[in-house]
Amino acid sequence: MSDKFQLLDELRKEAMLGGGEQKIADRHKKGKLTARERLDLLLDPDSFEEIDMFVRHRSTNFGLEKQRPLGDGVITGTGRIHGRTVCVFSQDFTVFGGSLSETHAEKICKIMDLAMKIGAPVIGINDSGGARIQEGVVSLGGYADIFLRNTLASGVIPQISVILGPCAGGAVYSPAITDFVFMSRGSSYMFVTGPNVVKTVTHEEVTFEELGGADTHASKSGVAHVACENEVDTLTRVRDLMRYLPSSNTATLPHIPTVDLPDRICTRLDTIIPANPNQPYDIKDVIKTVVDESQFFEIHADFADNIVVGFATMNGRPVGIVANQPASMAGVLDINSSSKGARFVRFCDCFNIPLVVFEDVPGFLPGTDQEWRGIIRHGAKLLYAFCEATVPKVTVITRKAYGGAYDVMNSKHIRGDYNVAWPTAEIAVMGAKGAVEILFKKEIEHAEDKVAKAAELEAAYNAQFCNPYAAAERGFIDDVIRPSDTRKKLIRALELLETKEDSNPWKKHGNIPL
Ligand code: HXC
Repeated sequence: MSDKFQLLDELRKEAMLGGGEQKIADRHKKGKLTARERLDLLLDPDSFEEIDMFVRHRSTNFGLEKQRPLGDGVITGTGRIHGRTVCVFSQDFTVFGGSLSETHAEKICKIMDLAMKIGAPVIGINDSGGARIQEGVVSLGGYADIFLRNTLASGVIPQISVILGPCAGGAVYSPAITDFVFMSRGSSYMFVTGPNVVKTVTHEEVTFEELGGADTHASKSGVAHVACENEVDTLTRVRDLMRYLPSSNTATLPHIPTVDLPDRICTRLDTIIPANPNQPYDIKDVIKTVVDESQFFEIHADFADNIVVGFATMNGRPVGIVANQPASMAGVLDINSSSKGARFVRFCDCFNIPLVVFEDVPGFLPGTDQEWRGIIRHGAKLLYAFCEATVPKVTVITRKAYGGAYDVMNSKHIRGDYNVAWPTAEIAVMGAKGAVEILFKKEIEHAEDKVAKAAELEAAYNAQFCNPYAAAERGFIDDVIRPSDTRKKLIRALELLETKEDSNPWKKHGNIPL
């Protein structure tokens, strides 16, 4: 019997070394962690249970039968984060460059299937040279098997992609389908074709980092939701995000104990709106003042920063925050901010996370650039997302709610549950200057003192429209509140809405304007 145990021990030891000690040392020399070290950092201590450690590839192409490492370049299993079960895979670059073979793909599919059965999030750590070249189309088939599972799991279990190495070619499409993509500066990149192909095809000279590094995708393309300093920071931040997410679309939301009192008065909010309506302020100050212990996990912090989205808790309950940012482009809605907001709203709705909206928006961004690139189509995504969402939805209008943007930003008309305004709110078709120019063009032209006439008309317009009371009179907002009461009022509303039930008509799926 003891020799059987010895064999098991030896095989395990061999599997633990992946591509071997030399390759592990090479990784460390490059400042990179191994696939196993990454899992250790991601998961609660001693919680990892590996499966499929003894899987080997079946290929005999190019002499591969002589090289059949245990595990086949990916470590899969289950573990815990903050005590809750997650399914994980971590690609091992020391084995054939982490490339994806038939069996490597089968292991990933198996852990994803398990995640769906038990209702647990999947976190995939990507570090791979892509399709295992020696296996050809079999490897491509493996990718497709994963893409299908990513799609079927979308909206059922949270899926998180952590990019800690190369992720190129069609391989990028698995992370792209998942809910959140984390990248690490200087050590991860994603692109459909690398710098060499780019140079051949378009004659552009570009580095790996510029073409598809963490900052590029977190600020320019929006492919990455979070860009982190290094591998340790990346894995720590994934753990942070997990605090806010339920395990599946049928699981209850996590509860995060807080010492922050639910009826805390936020005095500083009473003076946060500048006297001049065109002067910016930082909406993140409002968010951090209202939520528990000022903790806000921002998503897409560097992409389309004219809208702010992210997670926080209110009296311990997770919420998704969507807020116009007056400190960037006056908080205007454009193509990127609409898409960013829409995807976030849909994530929250999939996973029953209530939405809290802070609104200060002068409208949609005008101009040929936006029109020709389809602001109508993209702006409609945000509208559609808010309309279809059935989670508890609350809105606070802090200042401007102009034009179509008033409707879009979770208005009462599209099933906002609790819509309130601060006394500084301006709810109107447009701002005074634009409105007066259209309505009173002739009067102003014929006036002796055109400037004085325009100012007089603007003042009259402001008095009539640029306040919350016309909307309140109609019941389009439920209340006008003191800014300092915002936390207290929102927590009460969210508690009230915990038993909310709402649904959409039966359909196979809607047709969101993509
Ligand atoms: C098999 C691979 C491999 C691959 C790397 N290796 N990529 N083996 N299939 N795709 C092996 C190398 O032969 C080497 O083996 C080891 O992994 C480490 O690779 P290096 O090149 O030494 O490492 P590095 O210099 O860090 O470069 C990493 C790399 C480069 C940039 C990823 O290896 C590379 O360009 N690989 C090919 C990438 C690629 O074109 N893949 C196909 C993409 S298309 P030894 O034995 O020497 O250690 C694709 C389609 C997916 O993936 C389609 C889905 C629909």
